[in-house]
Amino acid sequence: MQIYKRLEQDHDKQRDLCEQIKHTRGDSEKRNKLWAELRVELEAHASAEEQAFYSELMKDPKGTDDTRHAVEEHQLMTEQIEVLDNLDMDADVWMKKFEKLAHKVIHHVDEEEAEFFPKAKKLFSDKEAEDMCDAFNERKPAEIEKQELAA
Ligand SMILES: [Fe+2]
Ligand SMILES: [Fe+2]
Repeated sequence: MQIYKRLEQDHDKQRDLCEQIKHTRGDSEKRNKLWAELRVELEAHASAEEQAFYSELMKDPKGTDDTRHAVEEHQLMTEQIEVLDNLDMDADVWMKKFEKLAHKVIHHVDEEEAEFFPKAKKLFSDKEAEDMCDAFNERKPAEIEKQELAA
């Protein structure tokens, strides 16, 4: 498998979790469970993606701007996650802030898939894209573990 397909699998999971959370209410067990899953997924995905994909993309002058843009968005999402973690789930403002994050997540994964991956496909060979997928798969479980320990 090439890195693009693998990242898209995670993106689909993120889209699905965002949609599910929008249908939860208050400080419920369901919202807590889904949010715990999404925040770990978002952080672990972003870290493994930076290490396996963007670190390689950045090496090409044609990939520098996209990399900077993506990493900046990862950072903004981390800040939004921290805000949500510190808010009472029962408060109306929680869902307002969550909708902002979900909007950002969808924009980000859509942009990666529609703009950055097609450009990267021109810069990397099939073999390189497969090696990046291996690197991602190796890294992701460690990043999940790190996030779960931090939670
Ligand atoms: Fe990303
Ligand atoms: Fe991504």
